[in-house]
Amino acid sequence: MTIKRKIGVLTSGGDAPGMNACLKNIVEYSSSKGFEIVAFKHGYQGLIDDDFVLLSPKDVELITPYGGSVIFSGRSKDFLDSKKRKKGMQNLLKHNVEALIVLGGEGSMHGALRFAEYKIPVYLIPCTIDNDISCTERSIGFDTSVNNAVEMINNVQQTMRANDRIGVIETMGRYCGDIALYSAVAAECEVLAIPEKNKTKADIFKYIQKSLDKGKTPTVIVSENVFDVVQLSKEIEKKFKKESRPVILSYMQRGGSPTIFDILLAIRMAVNAVLCVQNKVASSVLSLKNQKIIPIKLEDAISCKKQLNFELMEMFKELNQT
Ligand code: F6P
Repeated sequence: MTIKRKIGVLTSGGDAPGMNACLKNIVEYSSSKGFEIVAFKHGYQGLIDDDFVLLSPKDVELITPYGGSVIFSGRSKDFLDSKKRKKGMQNLLKHNVEALIVLGGEGSMHGALRFAEYKIPVYLIPCTIDNDISCTERSIGFDTSVNNAVEMINNVQQTMRANDRIGVIETMGRYCGDIALYSAVAAECEVLAIPEKNKTKADIFKYIQKSLDKGKTPTVIVSENVFDVVQLSKEIEKKFKKESRPVILSYMQRGGSPTIFDILLAIRMAVNAVLCVQNKVASSVLSLKNQKIIPIKLEDAISCKKQLNFELMEMFKELNQT
């Protein structure tokens, strides 16, 4: 009997639409190349606890259109402890896993680097709605979450306008303003506050006033961790003597079926990650660069600095703040 080569897989951090599509294609493509998949549950925690399931193509049939992660995602406090990480590594060795593919975001990428000190290569596939991994133009899940956010912002705008109210809407993104910026432009909102651009409440009031002067019903988009939208909404009511309502989009942005863009990105990244294993590429982050998927060495990927889409930001300013 021939012993199958094995690849470990886990989904880590906040889940992202497209994670299942990516997982399915890793399982299918790697199986066609003669590998077996050991999927660890609940992210890095499953690795430490040796909580795993062997996946064959039959197990992942039809999972592509679903949000979430069928093998569960999560953040592991234990993984910060080097002794527990070592236990995780021993589990990989026990299973004869020759490489680990991690589907996750920024935090998971740093986790992958912690692991790369061991001999088993780790490949990070950027899967996060935040789009905060610097070395890739897109992470899987971002497009879906912006689509979700725009749909909900449009709904809020309609009811706010009907009641002559100012909507103050919080988007996710952790410390990256991409979801807020892309959604604000696509939903034609008037006021935006993101972590990359220091705005005071006085700035926000100034732009609201500009929009009111044009006879519009302004919508304020606030990326999480910038302002408390409940408090801001109260202050807006007081300042403009107009009703205002806070809306926190929260997990409604993170769930749901992935868009075709995210499915295609997930499939391409999955295939390329398996090829990395097959070709014994050094630990890397799979990255979308100029329409191509390329592996970028983990250490180089971590030292990249995330850039805001300045062109989009400038256009937003031109449309609303001049
Ligand atoms: O990283 C994805 C994300 O949804 C962030 O936008 C958000 O800050 C965070 O996860 C929320 O995490 P949790 O679901 O663990 O509270």
